[in-house]
Amino acid sequence: MPIALCDPNSQRQLDRGVFDLSTLCPDRTSMTGVTMKIAFSPAFDANSPRLVARVVAKGDLPGDLPAIIASGAEASRFSGKAGQTFEGFYEGDNGPVRLALAGAGEKGSERLPQLEKAGAALTTKFLTSGETALALDCRDGSLSAAEVAAVLLGLRLRAWRWDTYRTKLRDEQKPTLAEVVVVGAPEGAEAAWNEAEALARGVEFTRELVSEPANVIYPESFVERCRERLAGTGVEIEVLGEAEMEKLGMGALLGVSQGSVREGQLLVMKWNGGKAGDAPTVFVGKGVTFDTGGISIKPAAGMEDMKWDMGGAGAVAGAMVALAGRKAKANVVGVCGLVENMPDGNAQRPGDVVTTMSGQTVEVINTDAEGRLVLCDALTWVQREFKPKTVVDLATLTGAILISLGSEHAGLFSNSDDLANGLLAAGTASGDKLWRFPLSPAYDRLLDSAIADMKNVGTRMAGSITAAQYLQRYIEDGVNWAHCDIAGMAWADKPGATWDKGATGYGVRLIDRFVRDTAEG
Ligand code: BES
Ligand code: MN
Ligand code: ZN
Repeated sequence: MPIALCDPNSQRQLDRGVFDLSTLCPDRTSMTGVTMKIAFSPAFDANSPRLVARVVAKGDLPGDLPAIIASGAEASRFSGKAGQTFEGFYEGDNGPVRLALAGAGEKGSERLPQLEKAGAALTTKFLTSGETALALDCRDGSLSAAEVAAVLLGLRLRAWRWDTYRTKLRDEQKPTLAEVVVVGAPEGAEAAWNEAEALARGVEFTRELVSEPANVIYPESFVERCRERLAGTGVEIEVLGEAEMEKLGMGALLGVSQGSVREGQLLVMKWNGGKAGDAPTVFVGKGVTFDTGGISIKPAAGMEDMKWDMGGAGAVAGAMVALAGRKAKANVVGVCGLVENMPDGNAQRPGDVVTTMSGQTVEVINTDAEGRLVLCDALTWVQREFKPKTVVDLATLTGAILISLGSEHAGLFSNSDDLANGLLAAGTASGDKLWRFPLSPAYDRLLDSAIADMKNVGTRMAGSITAAQYLQRYIEDGVNWAHCDIAGMAWADKPGATWDKGATGYGVRLIDRFVRDTAEG
């Protein structure tokens, strides 16, 4: 069923003279990416795929390999390192077999991410190879149910592509591998895969939101896309428009939004899978659907990247898909602060003073430090609305975090050691890694303003920390809060472990794992 790319324009856009371009936008006629069919089978038979894969731990070449494969693997220095592959051929009972070995690395705390990497390496090797099906041979029992699911997750996630706006693909770009048959999986593998598949759908949704250009995904259409995707899942959706946010006094968020013809939105998604009355775990995402910098405008080079300045909001929305999809036994609220940061006759100026929902006033020194202005009002609102014990925000907040950590870890800031440790552990276990930074009164003082309660920027130094200090000024006593600066993680300039170039889906697995470990059962 075709899904319209553009929504009918809102009254606000029409008032501001935006034309309804929806008739010019192409229809999205298919789901993006490749959805692999996964089937389970107890044994091989004459119809099994001739492409077979086995997952091999480091330094642990199985003893039952055909001799020609074992010697070939050794000759080509295949050691079983995570992501390494070897391919050989032998004559099987039903004809020639193309056998691939995928390295799963050493057993340890990063076991599941490494197995995902092994699955992803198989996809990289065979996705466009002409092979249509792959059999994953699990008969040797070396993989547990959860480990089989991790390999499948890697296979599936690495197959996701963003071809929505290509009208042609060259032959060698066309994916062929569409089916995986899992042979001889242990008890419980199918159930484990069903949960992992919910996670895959969540990651894929995040990637879709993050990949879409800003003429397609803006605050209202972001909300619309979430409504579409979450319909029938049991997630309750509530949306605050600008009139409601004005009544609530969200002057900081609205100050960012005022330069755009698009209306800002606060999207609230509630999943009540836990005990009635249990305080929810709340996740808040920065959703700047495009960040020009505003009047403090950014340079042209690379500005197109700012379409993914809603990566935090995208991760929160994808996590809701994952949690509802696997019926997580926890109460979770996801909130996205959605605005577009534009320069305009009505845009906010450097030096403007705004009053936040918390009552604190802010001197807006730099209109490009807009993420914190959006988040502070969203953070105040969630604390008053839900009385949560734990609030975690995710945001593509600072370029400085890219300088500090590159694209290996997101930056973690927290007022609670327990919460920080829980998130660090969830990051390591899920592969969405975090690294903790300090917070302290000395950094906080860099935000003091001569005329208002605070400025929205500190000095050039320690830019990621002062951004976090700014957010901390909005956290009420007794609330455990953490901030994840994901500016280095939401988007990849080159293919990575389980993603292609582009949107990674960072954050979905982190949230899913953290909820599993801390809020369920
Ligand atoms: N959205 C940017 C941060 C960003 C940069 C995300 C690169 C992804 C990649 C954010 O709104 C921003 O502009 N931050 C400024 C803050 C500065 C004005 C204090 C920055 O990092 O330069
Ligand atoms: Mn900015
Ligand atoms: Zn931004």
